[in-house]
Amino acid sequence: MIYAKITGWGKAVPPAAISNDEISTIVDTNDEWIATRTGIRSRRVSHVSTAELATIASKHALACAGIEGKEVDLVLLATCTPSTMVANTASLVQKNIGATGAAACDTNAACSGFLYALQNATAQIQAGMIKRAVVVAAERMTWYVNWAKRDSAVLFGDGAGAVVLEASSEPSGLMGTKTGCDTEDRDILHITNYGSDIDKYKPVGPSELLFEGREIFKRAVTGMSIACDDVMQKAQLELDDIDVLIPHQANLRIIQAIQKKLDISDDKVMVNIDQYGNTSAATIAIALCEAVEQGLIKPNANIMSAAFGAGLTWAASYIRW
Ligand code: ACO
Repeated sequence: MIYAKITGWGKAVPPAAISNDEISTIVDTNDEWIATRTGIRSRRVSHVSTAELATIASKHALACAGIEGKEVDLVLLATCTPSTMVANTASLVQKNIGATGAAACDTNAACSGFLYALQNATAQIQAGMIKRAVVVAAERMTWYVNWAKRDSAVLFGDGAGAVVLEASSEPSGLMGTKTGCDTEDRDILHITNYGSDIDKYKPVGPSELLFEGREIFKRAVTGMSIACDDVMQKAQLELDDIDVLIPHQANLRIIQAIQKKLDISDDKVMVNIDQYGNTSAATIAIALCEAVEQGLIKPNANIMSAAFGAGLTWAASYIRW
């Protein structure tokens, strides 16, 4: 059996941070509301492109794995904020990291994108099609933010996280996964005036992220919990077997609700939404890196991860470290 072991990891978080108090100077909000309703205290805003964030994270991951770009067979970039649509943004990352022989492709499953990409790259390694992949999630969510609207201005941030996967006989990497998409209500979370459906001969308004927060909140909790249960059941994992939970970081209260449903203790849950806000596909990739840095993920740890996003896409993954 071939496995896709995670041999390297890295992140790129922009140095410029905007605190809740600073946001309060541009829209009618306050630190108390934002912190208690979302858990967010600060978010990063990038002055460089999505491709550059992805490049930095990928270079860190390659250095961590001790391999060079030219040894990589595939670069999969999860993003819903691509630098360019044509050519794809992954091709720029491929070039920047020197992965000249690698296939390069963007994956858009919004906030679930990193787990979708991890599944795709793992499947290709397990099928023997490729030996090494860089899976990177990068977002410049603040590009879509309407800073005049308080409901969205407070929630999002920019950043990137990456992993290197390598074929291995050691049972590790993605061991169980489930992805899906409940498309009926896809309009409750979308970006306006973007894509080839818009009439390019008519003036259009700005592209901005619109969402029904309460509805998404409920669906995110239910969707991620059910997906986790399903993956755990198939992998025959008991609750005690889970060492770390890495949920998508969209709202601290969503994370706490999932934690309660799964009955997982605080010390096993990775939370960094306070520092970065919602970086969409990048939240789990960044949180994974930080959980390793903080010693929360130890060798052979069993990690459950879950995501929910526009589509409405969802995903759960069981990763053995
Ligand atoms: N500051 C102060 N007041 C605010 C703010 C703000 N930034 N935003 C909204 N309010 C007000 C509203 O106007 C409303 O006032 P009213 O009662 O006088 O009408 C009140 O706060 C409550 O608004 P709700 O939208 O009901 O607040 P809620 O507790 O649902 O929190 C939130 C909103 C944070 C968006 C929450 O619903 C949420 O986290 N939803 C899920 C996450 C989400 O939608 N993310 C979008 C990306 S998708 C993803 O990542 C899965």
